[in-house]
Amino acid sequence: MSQGSGGHGGSPADAGASSPAAGSAVPASSDPRNDGPRPVTGASFHEMWRELLPIGRHPASGGYRRHAWTGADAECREWFRAQARSRGLTYEVDRNGNQWAWLGDPGAGDAVVTGSHLDSVPDGGAFDGPLGVVSSFAALDELRGRGARFTRPLGIVNFGDEEGARFGLACAGSRLTAGQLTAEQAHRLTDSEGISLPQAMEAAGYDPEAIGADPERLARIGAFVELHVEQGRALDLSGDRVGVASAIWPHGRWRFDFRGEANHAGTTRLVDRRDPMLPYAETVLAARREAELAGAVATFGKISVEPNGVNAIPSLVRGWLDSRGPDQDSLDTVVGGIEKAAREYADAHGIDLDVVRESFTPVIEFDHALRDELARVLETANGRPEVPVLGTGAGHDAGILSGSVPTAMLFVRNPTGVSHSPAEFAAEDDCVAGVGALAAVLEGLACR
Ligand code: GLV
Ligand code: MN
Ligand code: MN
Repeated sequence: MSQGSGGHGGSPADAGASSPAAGSAVPASSDPRNDGPRPVTGASFHEMWRELLPIGRHPASGGYRRHAWTGADAECREWFRAQARSRGLTYEVDRNGNQWAWLGDPGAGDAVVTGSHLDSVPDGGAFDGPLGVVSSFAALDELRGRGARFTRPLGIVNFGDEEGARFGLACAGSRLTAGQLTAEQAHRLTDSEGISLPQAMEAAGYDPEAIGADPERLARIGAFVELHVEQGRALDLSGDRVGVASAIWPHGRWRFDFRGEANHAGTTRLVDRRDPMLPYAETVLAARREAELAGAVATFGKISVEPNGVNAIPSLVRGWLDSRGPDQDSLDTVVGGIEKAAREYADAHGIDLDVVRESFTPVIEFDHALRDELARVLETANGRPEVPVLGTGAGHDAGILSGSVPTAMLFVRNPTGVSHSPAEFAAEDDCVAGVGALAAVLEGLACR
């Protein structure tokens, strides 16, 4: 195994990148260093990918708006149900709206589960989430096609609301299941229209009274493996199609409420203003500075302004900070530094400031035995001894589950390094190599 760098490399977005469904044939591997596990036809992958591609895609931006419990999300869920049914798998929706497709008896225990999510960030890419779900069904097809005999139940899962784009909390479906989000807390999560998460689930046809921890369901699982598009360029730089995850950086979301006084933009003298936009803007710059100093990342990517009029000084500027660091100390340092700076700027402008931590996920070390097993399988399948083992700053349902079950992740090369954007990309033959890698891993775990 080789230890790679975290998923924070960046390259200019390749706006011209086309989806892997664009061509129908799978090109032969062009990179002799990286021949993925074979044989994989890729046919089932392509068919599924093509079906999913139009769902929730915004015609102007080309990005995906598959937000939890919306119409686009319902279409994705219907697609998942149809995939399960067409393969004769046992289909279930759990109390938190997560979808499951089972080969074998789901209640037998010690199951091997794979999957990811189908929802997206606002104007997200096609791969973050769906690549893992589609690859899971394709890997199952591959194994069945070559007559694999399963000795453990195999589950495929689509976790609900992984991105938290609508209700602000990432991995809501897996957090509820793992008991890391209580039903009471879920009732307090609202979207921009004031609709709560349980209300949205009810509107989508689910029972809002049922939501909550589901330890029995988790107890069925002996191992969980999530395949995901890489959200950086480590694999591109190392020349590998597929890598294994080592850890997820600690990360969280903080809401900064700067409260001032609404007033007329034309008639209020500058000295008389209590304008919350000013300390907010200074805080954004401080976040960049503090992150650089701490070797971490910090982003204000979402803002809401009241009353939000061009000719009105705002009364409230609410900004959401997303911050992540390689360890807890650096994360504490960067967030502490940003909050201290924000309070100083707010005071200087006569502005009230509240800072609320809305979510937090501590550092996740994936199960070492399972991680090493994945690396061993890939090394054997690839016929080369080095499989990159990568840390990442991105959150995943696998990270949430890792507190309850042995969990591991596979990453598939993304040459743009871009994610949470329409420029996110993985090449056709890399996706197919990912399916082959996942099939090899599942065979090793579930068919011995
Ligand atoms: C989810 O993709 C996250 O890292 O926020
Ligand atoms: Mn994501
Ligand atoms: Mn994801």
